Amino acid sequence: MIFESHAHYDDEAFDEDRDALLASLKEHGIGPVVNVGASLEGCRLTLELMKRYPFLYGALGVHPGETAELNEEKLAWLRQQCGTDKVVAVGEIGLDYHWPEPEPSVQKMWFERQLELARECKLPVIIHSRDAAKDTLDMMKALHAEEIGGVIHCFSYTKEIAREYLEMGFYFGIGGVITFSNAKKLKEAVEYIPTDRILVETDSPYLAPEPVRGRRNSSLNLPCIIQRIAEIKGISCEETETVTYDNAARLFGIA
Ligand code: NI
Repeated sequence: MIFESHAHYDDEAFDEDRDALLASLKEHGIGPVVNVGASLEGCRLTLELMKRYPFLYGALGVHPGETAELNEEKLAWLRQQCGTDKVVAVGEIGLDYHWPEPEPSVQKMWFERQLELARECKLPVIIHSRDAAKDTLDMMKALHAEEIGGVIHCFSYTKEIAREYLEMGFYFGIGGVITFSNAKKLKEAVEYIPTDRILVETDSPYLAPEPVRGRRNSSLNLPCIIQRIAEIKGISCEETETVTYDNAARLFGIA
């Protein structure tokens, strides 16, 4: 069984065949799925999906690019929902400087508030960090994120940055990017990261791996990612599947 640690099945890209697709995962060897909220609406839909599918768990949080929608009242709603059964993480939260908005000060404020929310709720965090390596690490160190724990989703920084997060006890979400021929830096990082700190993820509907790059992604493509990690680590696909499953189950507290 493969543990899908990061997908967005609430996305409208799945409106046409969501139920059929989710129902087919088990026969393709896909076990638990963590559906990750990226906006308040995404969190609301995640809560609905969790009720409908026993194998689907939820992460609740607001992506840095969407933080302009947050206020005290909405954060209080998130806090309340984090107590729901099967909510296993706060996320995805972090910093994204790839796009100019919202401005960094807004992103930082809500990143800090959501890290503190995770601490209060005793949940791990799912971190989104894009073109913001230094600020993300600086904030996480200053706020003692090592006491909270979690995963750096779609890890795409260097081995040196990986070392810092390893020391903080974090896990690394590895997805479709590892199958791209130009992913040299990431390949080095995956060689370096111990196998017991790696989770597999698709970020569906985004980031489809080779050979289906550019199309709508789904958890059905996880074997391509498992295979590439197995090649890099010099272990079998079965072992990669088992270890990454155990890692995710440990992090998210799923038996
Ligand atoms: Ni995502």
